[in-house]
Amino acid sequence: MLLREVELVNFRNIPELKLTPNPGLNLLVGENGQGKSNFLEAVLILAITKSLRAGKDSELIRIGEDNSLVRCTVEREIDSDARLEMLFSRTERKYIRINGSKHTRSLDILGYMNAVFFGSMDLDIVSGEPTYRRRYLNMEISQISPRYCMDLSSLKKTLEQRNHLLKEMRDHPGRDYALDAWDSQLVQYGSDIISRREIILGRLNPLASNIHSYLTDGAENLEIRYLPSFPFPSGAKPEEIRCKFADELISKRSEEIRRGVTLIGPQRDDILFMVDGKDARLYASQGQQRTVTLSLKLAEYELINEFAGEPPIVLLDDVLSDLDDSRRNQLLNWVFGRCQSFITCTNLRSFTPEMLERADVYRVNDGDVKKINVE
Ligand SMILES: Nc1ncnc2c1ncn2[C@@H]1O[C@H](COP(=O)(O)OP(=O)(O)OP(=O)(O)O)[C@@H](O)[C@H]1O
Ligand SMILES: [Mg+2]
Repeated sequence: MLLREVELVNFRNIPELKLTPNPGLNLLVGENGQGKSNFLEAVLILAITKSLRAGKDSELIRIGEDNSLVRCTVEREIDSDARLEMLFSRTERKYIRINGSKHTRSLDILGYMNAVFFGSMDLDIVSGEPTYRRRYLNMEISQISPRYCMDLSSLKKTLEQRNHLLKEMRDHPGRDYALDAWDSQLVQYGSDIISRREIILGRLNPLASNIHSYLTDGAENLEIRYLPSFPFPSGAKPEEIRCKFADELISKRSEEIRRGVTLIGPQRDDILFMVDGKDARLYASQGQQRTVTLSLKLAEYELINEFAGEPPIVLLDDVLSDLDDSRRNQLLNWVFGRCQSFITCTNLRSFTPEMLERADVYRVNDGDVKKINVE
């Protein structure tokens, strides 16, 4: 998969941009606060339908302007090329256009362009609360399974209703309540999500472990484990997970009513990252945590490549800080020559002359993105 053209209008601090990226390495270099991350954010939006850092879409529109546009042309190996657009407005709902036809459901864009993104916020996946790890899983699995994404949204609605009912049951006992109906919905959507997570993490683990070993030149071992909210044997079939989930709900029912909240299900899942047998969240250094996150992201590259049948685009935002020279070199070697990538940095010191010769280098300055020649 290749980005052939990127066009932005009034996106954050970028008033206007049109570029034809290199099919390999693209470097965006500039001082702090110039628009490097903004560029990656725009591209990522077309892959995952929304911004990871904006609370509201209106933040994406350049201050003082009313509309914003992100447009990409994607060349795909297994399908025809696609022209993807997303339009944001201060007065109307955002909408997308796929090959010129308008859709108001942004989910429709999923699957046209796959991207793997690494940004400093991703460090929370390893070091932060479980909610970051669940968000990570949801975002990644949604890219390869629109069905998962729909199950998530059904689960969210089911949980809201079920939690509301549990509170009612706690506050007004003795009445007749239809909790069973919500239980079966919870089990239905929840088990599908859990089965998917089980499969994906089972596939990610060996991939990430190999990559981690490569990045650290064999010095460290990484293991990823799924920690679901109720126990089931690893590799369990969906039907088995469904039965366990239903049994567990029955055994937790009185506690759930007493606390007025759903205590088991995908909303309580977690993932454990172990570096050399120790929990990376508690024991790994900053550089080690960054390496774990990168191993995870690059493993995801492999997984998307397998599922989608072609490699995703790789977007690395400020990825080199905190890494020692050896890990930096290994990372850049991994990316270089493998895929189309966009890497932001504040200087070009980490790149070899060969990389710089083959890359397109863009200078980003106050929202202006210009291709430059580096000697
Ligand atoms: N909606 C907006 N309209 C205008 N400017 C904006 C908007 N949103 C963000 N900005 C500006 O964009 C700039 C930040 O851009 P960005 O995050 O891309 O910087 P960066 O080049 O990645 O810097 P760093 O190296 O520090 O990560 C800030 O100066 C910010 O004020
Ligand atoms: Mg930045």
